[in-house]
Amino acid sequence: MCSIIGYLGLSSAAPIIVKGLKRMEYRGYDSVGVATFSEHQISVRKGVGKVLEVNKTEKLDELSGTIGIGHTRWATHGMVTDTNAHPHPSSSGEIAIVHNGIIENHEELKKELQKHGYTFKSQTDSEVIANLLQYNYDKTREIKKSVVDTVAELKGNYAFVAVFQDGTLSAARLHEPLIIGVGKEGYFISSDVLGFVEYTDEVIYPDNKEFVIIDKEGLKIFDFDANPVRHQITKVSKEFADVYKGQYAHYTLKEISEQPLTVSSAGNNTKLEIDLASDLIKHARNVYITGSGTSYNAALIAKFLFSKYAKIKIDPLISSEAQFSPDMFEEKSILVAISQSGESADVLEAVGIAKKTGSKIISIVNMMTSSLVHQSSISMGLNCGPEIGVAATKSFTSQLVVLYKIIDKICDGCMELDLTKVSEAIKKILSNDSKIKDVAKRLKNVSDIYVLGRGMHYPIASEGSLKLKELTYIHAEGLPGGELKHGPLALMDSNSYVLIINPNDSTYNDTLTSAREIKARGAKIIGISDKPSDVYDHWIDIPSINEPLYPLVEIVPIQLLAYYAAIDKDFDPDYPRNLAKSVTVK
Ligand code: G6P
Repeated sequence: MCSIIGYLGLSSAAPIIVKGLKRMEYRGYDSVGVATFSEHQISVRKGVGKVLEVNKTEKLDELSGTIGIGHTRWATHGMVTDTNAHPHPSSSGEIAIVHNGIIENHEELKKELQKHGYTFKSQTDSEVIANLLQYNYDKTREIKKSVVDTVAELKGNYAFVAVFQDGTLSAARLHEPLIIGVGKEGYFISSDVLGFVEYTDEVIYPDNKEFVIIDKEGLKIFDFDANPVRHQITKVSKEFADVYKGQYAHYTLKEISEQPLTVSSAGNNTKLEIDLASDLIKHARNVYITGSGTSYNAALIAKFLFSKYAKIKIDPLISSEAQFSPDMFEEKSILVAISQSGESADVLEAVGIAKKTGSKIISIVNMMTSSLVHQSSISMGLNCGPEIGVAATKSFTSQLVVLYKIIDKICDGCMELDLTKVSEAIKKILSNDSKIKDVAKRLKNVSDIYVLGRGMHYPIASEGSLKLKELTYIHAEGLPGGELKHGPLALMDSNSYVLIINPNDSTYNDTLTSAREIKARGAKIIGISDKPSDVYDHWIDIPSINEPLYPLVEIVPIQLLAYYAAIDKDFDPDYPRNLAKSVTVK
């Protein structure tokens, strides 16, 4: 998703901005650009492609000046073109902006501004911010007033940074992330701490409906009514600086490989909060659980485990669907919101709807500095370090561990949560991946894969199919085993590949029956199981473990399979096409 960045300080701005954009690449984007202010002029360079590619041709980091802004764009309005890339200058070129979010009333504003003689070059909604700021600035030549007048007219969700032709930076936010870094030699503005964490760990989090003005005199923060606002400087964890691939070819492989450690550390930074959350859930009248993508799959497993082990019924809800069923939240319920980034717009919307009914929000989050944490009564940390690969891997198993810890607390240890054993099992799978690599090669020209599981293995089948889609672009579908005969069996023939999640637990025999039904139609079967069977064309062996803990183990070979299949197909597993890590628009 779009990332914005701004810098004003003593050093050359462009190299700092390009580095910051590179750090935030993981959020997903298709084009990149930088604008700097120098010698009373704003210069813009931009283009379609990756940060380093565009930098090579456009020499973004050679722009001069110590004040500047930068952007990576994830197209929402207008095609992926050089012109649509940010920054966007106003028609007179006195102001340039970068923007993350969506301006809903951009068409009306554009028509109005065109009547006043302002011209537009791009098809984006964002360019309207540049010209609206310019229009308001032309009236009074006062930066603060022009920002107040501009935000009063903009509708939608946004965070933007503007550079003015006197070298002032201004940034405003409404439901999109915006963080200010306060360094010894300058100020940073960014969508993400990673944009500047190597320069400073001192940050300010402006609230919604606030804007900042940064000039040579320093930093000032105001609300949208122009009242000054005070914020404390807080420190972010230095661990966020540790975002290099090290010995690994890709972040995705690094993050999959970190799981023996991350399953052991999940939630360790928020033990007290886990106890408090368990107590609240235990005594709540109604509990709902929500998330998007991978986080929603974790929610589905939680539903199963809560009812089986904690004897508590919880209703899962896909976050993006919350707006269509606002009445489902009973008054004063609990909503458990799961999100790696804590910035997914859909999740934040579901949270907003639940809060209106007086419900309490309990969140399970990796980025403890995120908007979701600010909106929650209790937040539990994944504690798994930054996850850069767009496809969630280690954050998924960490989310599960935190959920397991809550359930285990409620049922007085009934889950026998031996995380050392889980960690050992994952290590074994990682160190013995030759079979997985071999199977991955066979998927090269396959067009459809089905992933089958029963009971709590069905959400794992959904999560596995999501990994295959995201990384290999192969059509993949998660299926509950028993549903085969109600439709999907019609699709099975000798061109189909079916992954069967079949650990030796209470689902084993029924799942094996499903496998035989598929085999009879000629499809190829990949069995993921701790028990061999002649029905499997390929068997991926997993270690046996205590029944409720299988999901934590069985997802790992599927993550690896998706990763290696992507490599065989020459796709970039870290940055899948059209996807973003942190989806901050609806
Ligand atoms: C995006 C990512 C997915 C992720 C989902 C939810 O769609 O591409 O990998 O699962 O967002 O993200 P969250 O940060 O809320 O867990």
